[in-house]
Order: sequence, then C-alpha cells, then structure tokens
Amino acid sequence: MQVSSFGYLGLSVSDLSRWKSFGADFLGLGVASEDADTIKFRNDDRAWRIAVHRGDADDIAYAGFEVANAAALAAIRDKLQEGGVAIEEATADLCKQRGVKDLVVCRDPDGLRVEIFYGPLEKFDTPFHSGCVASGFVTGDQGLGHIVLMTPDLPRMRGFYSGILGFKLSDTIDIPISGEQTISLEFYHCNRRHHTVALGPTMGSGGKKLHHFMLQVASLDDVGFALDRVTRYGVPLRNTLGRHTNDHMVSFYAATPSGFEVEFGTGARTVDDEDWSVVSHEKISTWGHVPVA
Ligand SMILES: [Fe+2]
Repeated sequence: MQVSSFGYLGLSVSDLSRWKSFGADFLGLGVASEDADTIKFRNDDRAWRIAVHRGDADDIAYAGFEVANAAALAAIRDKLQEGGVAIEEATADLCKQRGVKDLVVCRDPDGLRVEIFYGPLEKFDTPFHSGCVASGFVTGDQGLGHIVLMTPDLPRMRGFYSGILGFKLSDTIDIPISGEQTISLEFYHCNRRHHTVALGPTMGSGGKKLHHFMLQVASLDDVGFALDRVTRYGVPLRNTLGRHTNDHMVSFYAATPSGFEVEFGTGARTVDDEDWSVVSHEKISTWGHVPVA
C-alpha cells in the first residue's frame, strides 16, 4: 500500500490574474472554476489538477498524492503515525473543496502541506480540450507530472517520501562542482513516471520550496508550439530546449509569474520496477537546457 500518483498541486500566488493567462493561454490548461481567491485548472478528465490560491508565498502550498482506495488511505495513515508524523483528518468541507472522497493532511519535514487522498471527482461528462495543446497532457496512471523540491535537510525528506510514503529511488544526478564536491539530486517514482518527486539541496532561490513543476505533453510539436508562445507572451525562458540524462525528457524551463519554474516537456521514458536498477548520472542533460541569463 503506497502512494500511486501525484494527484493535484496547490500554489500560493500573489498575482492571480497573471496566473490565469499563464495557465490558460501559455500552458494550455483549462479553467475548471474561478472565484475571487482561487482558480482551479484542469488538464485531463479530472475535475481539476492545479489550484492557484491568492497568497503571499509565491510557492507551493500543498501537494496531493493519490492512493487507490479507503484501505490504502488507512494503511498510509498508519504508516504516518508509526513514523511519528502528526496527521489531521479532513473535514467534510475540505473533501468537498478538493473534490475527493477522503484525505489525510500532514506536513513533510520541511513543513510542506501534504494531502493523501482517494476518490477524486472525474468529469468524463465534460471532456477536457486544451485551447493550444492539441496532443493533450500525459497524465492517467502517471499522475499530474512531477515536482522538484529544494530542501535544507535531504536525509529527513528522503525518510519521509521514501521511508513513509513509499516512493522508490529511480536514480541520482551528482553534479561535480569543485574538487570532491558535488550537488546531488535524487529522483523518486511511485508509478511508471520516471520521477514524481525529486529532491535537491536548497540553492539561492529566495527560500522557495518548489524549484519547478513539470507538465508532459504527448507530442514534440506541442513543446515547439509552447516555445513559440514563450516569445509571443514574453514569458521568461530559464533553460533552452534540451534532453535530460535520466528520464530522457525533451523539455524547456520557463519562469512562472511566481518566480519558480515550470518544465514543459515530452517523450520521457518510463520505469518498470520489475527490471529497473538505480543508476547515477553526472550531468543533468545530454544536450541543451542551457541557462538563459
Ligand atoms: Fe523536472
């Protein structure tokens, strides 16, 4: 019994109106609902996948991880308690807001709100069609995408995500910086997606927990069209088009209106626990992903 996928993402953002056009016009998400303080976006048959809430943090507000059913949720609840993690049972009102049957709320070692849920609302009755991503987003059993979290205490975060939630290490990227010193990134999976959560050391990012979230589209053309929209909408490009060494994704990185980044990519390979062995890499990319000043 473990987390099966990354279900939803909550963001605290200072500029809700910029996020609306960033999400809909640039990323190609659909607006599922909207009020004065929250916009919910969808990118598949789920009722929603990304919520932006008016706030000061300009950072991740919560991550929602899905489990299969009530029994799996009960098992995770037990593991959290065994691991000494304080949990909060959800109110009926919170379940309604999230559109799920039930959830458990806890905090990871860095204080990020983590919600484990089952029974999300699906909207096959109102099919999702992106305004600009013709091939659609790769979700389903691979979940929403991935998040990369920056932490001052990687061992404790590893203990939480791997030891308690059951994420498995896919590989590491250990980048030599000087002499014997390296910066190490750890990539974890909970389904076929190569990584759903990656952990790296906090690096001059204004104290944000979230380095980036990743959305995967089904065709290379849709990454190219998104690169054209970088120019059209004046979105700051952070890394040029490139291919990652570990998941083989072809992607680019752009700045969101909150300062952290979004990775927009395609073509990632998947992992199968039957025959996957942990490896390490010393470079992030095989080609490209050149930082843009
Ligand atoms: Fe990424």
